[in-house]
Order: sequence, then structure tokens, then C-alpha cells
Amino acid sequence: MKDKIETLREKKTEAKLGGGQTRVDTQHKKGKLTARERIHFLLDRGSFEEIGMLVTHRTTDFGMDKQVILGDGVITGYGTINGRLVYVFSQDFTVFGGSLSETHAEKICKIMELAMQNGAPLIGLNDSGGARIQEGVRSLGGYADIFYRNVRASGVIPQISLIMGPCAGGAVYSPAITDFTIMVEDTSYMFVTGPNVVKTVTNETVTAEELGGAMTHAVKSGVTHLTAANDLQAINKVKRLISYLPQNCEEKAEKLSVEIEDELRPELDNIVPEDSHLPYDMREVVNGIVDADSFLEIHKDFAENIIVGFARLGGRSIGIVGNQPMSLAGVLDVDSSRKGARFVRFCDCFNIPLLVLVDVPGFLPGTDQEWNGIITNGAKLLYAFSEATVPRVSLITRKAYGGAYDVMNSKHIGADMNYAWPIAEIAVMGAKGASEIIFRKEIQEAEDPEAVLRDKEQEYKEKFAHPYRAAARGFIDEVILPSETRRKLLRAFTMLENKVASLPKKKHGNIPL
Ligand code: COA
Repeated sequence: MKDKIETLREKKTEAKLGGGQTRVDTQHKKGKLTARERIHFLLDRGSFEEIGMLVTHRTTDFGMDKQVILGDGVITGYGTINGRLVYVFSQDFTVFGGSLSETHAEKICKIMELAMQNGAPLIGLNDSGGARIQEGVRSLGGYADIFYRNVRASGVIPQISLIMGPCAGGAVYSPAITDFTIMVEDTSYMFVTGPNVVKTVTNETVTAEELGGAMTHAVKSGVTHLTAANDLQAINKVKRLISYLPQNCEEKAEKLSVEIEDELRPELDNIVPEDSHLPYDMREVVNGIVDADSFLEIHKDFAENIIVGFARLGGRSIGIVGNQPMSLAGVLDVDSSRKGARFVRFCDCFNIPLLVLVDVPGFLPGTDQEWNGIITNGAKLLYAFSEATVPRVSLITRKAYGGAYDVMNSKHIGADMNYAWPIAEIAVMGAKGASEIIFRKEIQEAEDPEAVLRDKEQEYKEKFAHPYRAAARGFIDEVILPSETRRKLLRAFTMLENKVASLPKKKHGNIPL
């Protein structure tokens, strides 16, 4: 028995060495943690249980039978984050560059199945040179096995991808399907084809960082939802993110117990300028409403004209979508519609109630927008809100114009409670534009066209630039003081806590993708 125990100990020690000390040193020199160190920092101390530590590849080509490393380049298992069960895989770049073999893929698939069966989040730490070149199509099949499971798990359990090194070629499609991607600045990149292929095919000269680094995907493509300065920061962001989410689609996120005292927030009275042309930061409104320091913004640098993120309201996890008047006056365009729609759908999948803050002058005009499909992309946001069955509350802080009024979680598309501040303007368009159209003839024929336009604008403003017509129709449930907003919203979400709603029987809808 003693020998056998010793053999097991030796094997475990060998597996923990991964690709050996030299390669571990190289990993550290690049500013990266090893696969095991990452798991160590991600999970509660001592909670990790490894599965498949002794798995090896089955390849004999190219002398691979002489290069066998226990674990085969990926560490898989389960553990807890703040006491909550999660499943994890962490690719080990020190073993064949973290490349994905058939067995490496099998290990990942095994924990994906377990995560789905047992209803707990899946966190993938990606650091890989891609398909194991020595294995050919078996490796490609392994990727597809993972993609297939990512899709099956979508909407069942939260799936989070950390990109902590290379992630290229087919490998990118697993993170793309998961709910959130977090990239580490300077040490990670994602692209379908690398700079060399780009040069050959399109003659563009571009570095890996420019093509698919963290900031590129945070700002330009929106492929990554969060970025981090280093591995440790990325891991801490995952832990924070997970705190807002439930374990699976059958559960609600944990509600923290917080003291609710005097909930008046007078500072909210002074954020929105009365002049509807002046910008303000919708984040100030968010922070004025939600529990202190609880707002976690997602997709911060992408499509900045809409803000999305998680926060807590009286300890309850909520999703926030808000137009951002500081950027493009808060208009809806292709990217902001896509960004908003994806977030709304995530919240709906996982029973996270939605708070929608509206200050929207309409959709962005122009050939660029039309040719890039603002029609179908804008429809995504409309569709996402309309199909969401979670509690949905809207607050119009200032403008709600035109079709964008409808889209931004209006009463007509199923919002549960619709509030407006007294300075809200709910109309087909702004007073000036409206007057120019409906009084065109009168203005043209006037001796002093500017004076007539001013008068008509004033008349239109008095008639429509307020929330009371909408309130008279019941499209707005209540016009509220900014200072009492938090109290109103706390009560509304509590009132909606046990909302039951379902969609008509169908296989699945056909969102305009
Ligand atoms: N299959 C098998 N082994 C791989 C591999 C792959 N796809 N990618 C990397 N490796 C191995 C390397 O052979 C090297 O092995 P060694 O330590 O025994 O010398 C080790 O992983 C580290 O790779 P290295 O190239 O030294 O690291 P790097 O940081 O300089 O470069 C990459 C990283 C990913 C840019 C580079 O390894 C690469 O281009 N890999 C191939 C990518 C690819 O074409 N994948 C297939 C299509 S998806």
C-alpha cells in the first residue's frame, strides 16, 4: 500500500509541474499567472476539486507518444466563490502552448456537462495556442464539441470567459457564445485570423494588439465586456460579476440584507439640466438611485451612448439600461441597440429585474446607420424588451422622442411600471423640429419667419414637452420627484417580486439577428 500511495503522490506532483519550471518562468516573465495560480486566486481557499488530473493525449504522430504530460494542458474541476459552487477550466500554456487536443476538449466538455446538470456557473480561463496542430481534425472536432455545449448551456447557467493569453482561430467562438468575456490588457488577444494572414489577404499591416487586443475589443468591436490590467484584476472582476448573478435560470440572484433608512435623495433634483440640449452623465442618476458603490458597468467603452450594468437596489440585484446624454446625446444607433439588446436578454435569461433610464432624442440618422442596418439592429432592442418577462421598470428622466420612446421599455411593449420626472418631454420629436414640419407653410410665408418659428415652438412645447399627456393616457403610471425616485423604485421592485409572466407557446422566437 505504501508504494502505491507514493506512486499516486508522485503522479500528482508531476501533474502539478505542468510543462516544467522553465516554461512556468517564461509565463511569469510575460506578466501572466500560471493556470493553477489563476484557479488558486479565483476560488475560495482550499475549495478546488480537480477532475481529470491524470488524463493524457492519445496522439502518436510527430513523436507525440514521447511527449506525454499529465492533465494534457487544461486543469478542470469545481470549487466555490464566496461559498457558491462554480465549475472551472483553466488552460495551461506551459503544456503544448495550452493547445486544444481531443482529450483536452473532452475534459472541458465533462465539466460543462456537470455545470449544466448541477446548475452552476461555468468559468473558462483561456490561454491557448489554438488547435493542437499534431492532432488535426480531432482537435477541430473537440472545439465543435465545446461550442455545441456552450450553446446548450446558454440561458441555463451563466458562462464567463476570461482571455488571459492567445485566443485565435476557431477558439474565439466559445467565448463569443458565452455571456461575458473579460480580456487582460497587453497579454491577451482574440482574432479569427492573425496579422500574417490579414497581410496576405487584405494587404493591411496591423499588430496583434491593434487587431485583437483588449482595448480593440473593448472599444471597437464590443467583443469583450470587461478589461483588466492584469490576471489578478481580471479574476477579481469575475468574482464581482458573479455576485450579481444567480446560479442558473431557475433561481434568483441572492438578495443582500441592507438597512433601508431615509430613502430621499435630494441630489437627484440637480443632475438633469432643464435645457434639453445640455448633456449630463446618466451614471450620476444611476449612482443616485442604487445602493452605494454597487454599480458594475458592463461594456463601458463600447457604444457609450447607452450604459448597461448591474447594481443593487435595497440589496436586490438589478440590471440597468440607460441612454447616455453625454455621448451622441444618447441616441440609439446600431451598436448601442445591439449592446442594450444583448444585456436585456441576459438579464431576462437569469431572472434579473430591469431598470431602464430613458433620455433619448431618437435614432441616429445617416447613410452609415441605414446601410449598417439600424432597422434590424434597432429592432433587436425592441424585441429584447418586448419578450422579457422579468420585472421591468422605466423612468423617463428627460427626453423620450419618436420610435425610440416605444423601444425604450415603454408601457406599450410590456413594462410593468413607467415613471417620469416632471421635466420629461414625451413627444414625436423635439419642439423645433416638429414646428418646422407642421408649420412649414406658415413660417415660410411670414414676414418674420424666425419669430413665427419661435412662437410655434413655444406652443408645441406647452402642448407636448411634458409628461402629463402620457400620464393622462396611463402610459406613465406616475410623475415623480427626482428626490423620491429611489423610494419609489424600491417599492416598485418589491411589489413586482413575484411577477409571473410567460410567452406564448413556441419553439423559439426569431429575433432579427
Ligand atoms: N499546437 C501544438 N503546440 C503548440 C501550439 C499548437 N497550436 N501552439 C503553441 N504550441 C507549443 C509550441 O510548439 C511551444 O512548444 P515548446 O514549449 O515545446 O517549444 C509552446 O506551445 C509555446 O509556444 P511558443 O510559440 O513558444 O509561444 P509564443 O508565446 O511565442 O507564441 C503563439 C504563442 C500562440 C502565437 C504561437 O505558439 C502560435 O502561433 N501557435 C500556433 C497558432 C495556430 O496556428 N494554431 C492552430 C490554429 S487555431
